Amino acid sequence: MSVHESPTMSTDSLIIFDTTLRDGEQSPGASMTKDEKLRIARQLERLRVDVIEAGFAASSPGDFEAVKAIAAAIKDSIVCSLARANDRDITQAALALAGAARSRIHTFIATSPLHMEKKLRMTPDQVFEQARLAVRFARNLNGDIEFSPEDGYRSEPDFLCRVLEAVIDEGATTINIPDTVGYAVPELYGAFIRDLRERVPNSDKAIWSVHCHNDLGMAVANSLAGVKLGGARQIECTINGLGERAGNCSLEEVVMALKTRRDYFGLSLGIDASQIVAASRLVSQTTGFVVQPNKAVVGANAFAHASGIHQDGVLKARDTYEIMRAEDVGWSANKIVLGKLSGRNAFKQRLQELGLSFEAEGDVNAAFAKFKELADRKSEIFDEDIIALVGDESVTHEQEHYRLIALAQHSETGERPHARIAFAIGDTEVQVESDGNGPVDASLKAIESKVASGAELVLYSVNAITSGSTESQGEVTVRLQQGGRIVNGVGSDPDIVIASAKAYLAALNKLHSKAERVAAQG
Ligand code: KIV
Ligand code: ZN
Repeated sequence: MSVHESPTMSTDSLIIFDTTLRDGEQSPGASMTKDEKLRIARQLERLRVDVIEAGFAASSPGDFEAVKAIAAAIKDSIVCSLARANDRDITQAALALAGAARSRIHTFIATSPLHMEKKLRMTPDQVFEQARLAVRFARNLNGDIEFSPEDGYRSEPDFLCRVLEAVIDEGATTINIPDTVGYAVPELYGAFIRDLRERVPNSDKAIWSVHCHNDLGMAVANSLAGVKLGGARQIECTINGLGERAGNCSLEEVVMALKTRRDYFGLSLGIDASQIVAASRLVSQTTGFVVQPNKAVVGANAFAHASGIHQDGVLKARDTYEIMRAEDVGWSANKIVLGKLSGRNAFKQRLQELGLSFEAEGDVNAAFAKFKELADRKSEIFDEDIIALVGDESVTHEQEHYRLIALAQHSETGERPHARIAFAIGDTEVQVESDGNGPVDASLKAIESKVASGAELVLYSVNAITSGSTESQGEVTVRLQQGGRIVNGVGSDPDIVIASAKAYLAALNKLHSKAERVAAQG
């Protein structure tokens, strides 16, 4: 295991630490496979985030493999793994990160009275000692060590200062102060960070970081206050603000605030903002967490001027109503990019332009076959269609246990809809049929009549992939809950009944592959 040097930075630059693949993934239903994580990690690298928190290596063999694969693939960003403050977790993190060009171990232990007493059942002295020893152990394996006092914002400041001074002495290079439950307000959080930095005698030996949850909708504001008032120089955030409960600080919002108001914040970032929309789409498509239309920066309406007064103003002078340019964050007008006659090379080139290139030629071929199928049914293919198509499980390495072969449905006024479906279970083709309240209901019931997953459908949503036209493909998200597990499946097709069946089968595949992974460990 190599011991890397700790990161250095000038005081007027800010580190963007993305935790979509770790904290974001903790959101119920957002769990991702290794290949999905790898694809997102590559996009994060194109976005030029400084640190990618790839997962929590000790949490499962699957996450260990994902961190390992990302560590091997990513060259330009530091790859990080989370680890509880114990030798086993830290060793697992170090092993998973061994192949990385640059890596970081992020270790944490809770320090708030509530968490120490009720969750850890440890005394403050025991927590102090465990934090210190964990950082000492980690520092012997890696030169870049981040320490987080979980629930830091609700911790008692004297105790927190004692812990932080000790872990910096042991070699922690980044000190991250989580507002784990999203309780902070900007001025207080900023002052909290500033006071800690002033009171911890060796605070200048570490980079200070903010990590805010969005329970009161203030994660971005709190993070910015931690930087402006508190002097933090790292922000932890996720694409689309993905994360447990109300999510984490949203990368696109915090980055564009810092860039657009550089006059105020005065900090430089390494981020390539033109990759933001592609990253947002990829994360939403992969996890099935749809982006709300009025979401800042990445929502479909973020740059749409509907009112006549605004449109008139923008046409006369853009900056009357626009503080940033849509194209600067990667929005392109819905462009027809390819069609039925486009060849494999044109398709491959467009994949590359969209940052979606595949490693294996076999995967390009599978994606191209899907593209041809789509182009036969839909005359105009947009960038959004290609992104959705590439996110389709059937063109990736994922094991597809259930696969749609054909679907026919009949619905007519006054008649009960009926669906007939052929799909593959492993190597066997099965035929099923069912009635339902509507064609989607009939299709899902038909599939379920054979699979008998018993899973509860907790979310069903349909969105147009390219807005403003009924010719668009429908993108369906299905969320299933089964025995305490929640998975999302996404399917796209010009026919929303087919998209629904694909989404349902994709969710069943996730339940199935998880069950297989658990069985393999047992
Ligand atoms: O929110 C939190 O406290 C965390 C830590 C593990 C950093 O995610
Ligand atoms: Zn968190």
